[in-house]
Amino acid sequence: MEFMLDTANIEEIKNYVELLPIAGVTSNPSIVKNEGKIDFFNHMKKIREILGAERSLHVQVVATSYEGMLKDAEAILKNIDSKVYIKVPVSTEGLKVIKTLKQQGINVTATAIYTKFQAYLAIAAGADYIAPYYNRMENLNIDPRDAVGEMAKEIARTNSKTKILAASFKNVGQVNSALENGAQAATMGVDIIKQAFAMPSIKQAVADFTSDWEVIFGEGVTISSLK
Ligand code: E4P
Repeated sequence: MEFMLDTANIEEIKNYVELLPIAGVTSNPSIVKNEGKIDFFNHMKKIREILGAERSLHVQVVATSYEGMLKDAEAILKNIDSKVYIKVPVSTEGLKVIKTLKQQGINVTATAIYTKFQAYLAIAAGADYIAPYYNRMENLNIDPRDAVGEMAKEIARTNSKTKILAASFKNVGQVNSALENGAQAATMGVDIIKQAFAMPSIKQAVADFTSDWEVIFGEGVTISSLK
């Protein structure tokens, strides 16, 4: 399973790449907006430096025409690096872009997926990752568990290399359910990770272990300090 961070915040990325087994970073124009008027390419290069070559970086095009999206992709690859996954929304023009980029051997993440049909077409177009929008589907009364499950079946049926990178999460339960229904990867904001570890029971369990140990061995004594 691949866990990715859905943020363009340098401090968050630095911090969570140290803490957790992070496989990559995803962003979109709305996520970039949260960082203010950044020096875009330098900012993304800094993120790449933190990630290293082995983790993936997914950067979204902004233009909406076929030619414009291709030019955006070219600029991203030239000014960040050639390994970046180009995020392309699955519109009709987007599908044409995905086909072209894949013919050129470029890494592609098909995004803004609300329906199985979009996903099936993106799989057929050869996208490396498809990003179904879990919470946004739920808001539209589309069952994301069923959708992700069927996408996974389509990948298996067609023996495709595409991976499901589930996105748009508002709680940990949604992440679990996406992974349990067949997503190989999930991208989430750090708010979701904080939420997952904010359970008072986790803190309490650790505090109880410490105090039980200290009753016998003394305050501040750990295993490494035993003689
Ligand atoms: C991921 O890359 C998506 O763009 C993102 O998860 C969308 O999330 P949102 O629904 O919170 O905007």
